[in-house]
Amino acid sequence: MKFVDLQSQFAAYEPEIRREIEEVLRGAQFIMGPKGSELEGKLAAYVGATHAIGCSSGTDALLLTLMAYGVGAGDEIVTTPFSFVATAETVSLVGATPVFVDIDPKTYNIDAARIEDAVTKNTRGIIAVSLYGQCPEMETILSVGGEYGQFVIEDGAQSFGAERNGRRSCGWPHVGTTSFFPSNPLGCYGDGGMVFTSDDKVADCVRGLRNHGQWERYQHRAIGINGRLDDLQAAILIGKFPRFPDEVSVRNYMGQRYSDRLGDVVGVPVMSPGNTLVFAQYTIRTPRRDDLVAHLRENGIPTAVHYPIPLHLQEAFRGLGYGKGDFPESEAAAREVVSLPMSAFLSEADQDEVIRQVRRFFSG
Ligand SMILES: Cc1ncc(COP(=O)(O)O)c(C=O)c1O
Repeated sequence: MKFVDLQSQFAAYEPEIRREIEEVLRGAQFIMGPKGSELEGKLAAYVGATHAIGCSSGTDALLLTLMAYGVGAGDEIVTTPFSFVATAETVSLVGATPVFVDIDPKTYNIDAARIEDAVTKNTRGIIAVSLYGQCPEMETILSVGGEYGQFVIEDGAQSFGAERNGRRSCGWPHVGTTSFFPSNPLGCYGDGGMVFTSDDKVADCVRGLRNHGQWERYQHRAIGINGRLDDLQAAILIGKFPRFPDEVSVRNYMGQRYSDRLGDVVGVPVMSPGNTLVFAQYTIRTPRRDDLVAHLRENGIPTAVHYPIPLHLQEAFRGLGYGKGDFPESEAAAREVVSLPMSAFLSEADQDEVIRQVRRFFSG
């Protein structure tokens, strides 16, 4: 059994993907070619943003956004300690300081009610992560940001395709970023990411910065990076995208199917009102997590822990001065969560086996 079944997905979409790749190979425009712009147009329309800018990864999408806002030394960015490292790593990369706020233990997303307490005169913005494919309370976060004149970035690496109160993930003000890492809901076959915004100025900055700070060829107005999405990856995404809405529905169905059958033995994902999840991960919670993982491994079922060490306790962030006990909800989640196999190509028979083994563990 696969944790994310990319082989079956390729088998199902092979003709479309090969056709798109073939066009790039024949046209030989591999960097900043027509497939990149075509994908940007399609995905901007999908999320409801004016601009979409393809980037080399979800990490670079975050980095470029922070660069576009001119974030640097002395600035603070409020974010969650319970995320993939890139969320805070990019803040440190531009020389600013991540300021962590603990999570809501039900959704694992930043606790919007506590953000205000973390705001200082140096706070420039907030990075709200839509963990496991569920948007946080964006309305509250945007209103806190609005009150103090800060920008809000939704790190939607895991939530492309999710919705909240009729708005798609990555389509919120001011900026949404996503990742096309292969196992993400919409994944390419390498690294890729995207910045979404309806702010013309931010979009223009990101466009130039992702291409070595040049808006006209060989005229470098700013220090940028090589942060472009290449056309082969864009082509693969164009090949996959027409079936993406169906995949989102199947993921929802499979997520609900897990919850209906496991909700009495483990903590299952809690949907905050108004949210539609995309289940980038199907993540359960139990104090007996490590023994459950061992039991599932012995029975041929792959699992993953997203994430075993919260960011404030990572060695790389030691300089921030946080310690054990600072964010108890994140620390408890890191001890207790585990993600089960999930993709639009997980068969019901395989899912039943996962369910059977989880239940067997708790009945033993
Ligand atoms: C929440 C979050 N932010 C950022 C990233 C970085 O994306 P990438 O691996 O494309 O750089 C990831 C990776 O999936 C992620 O899960």
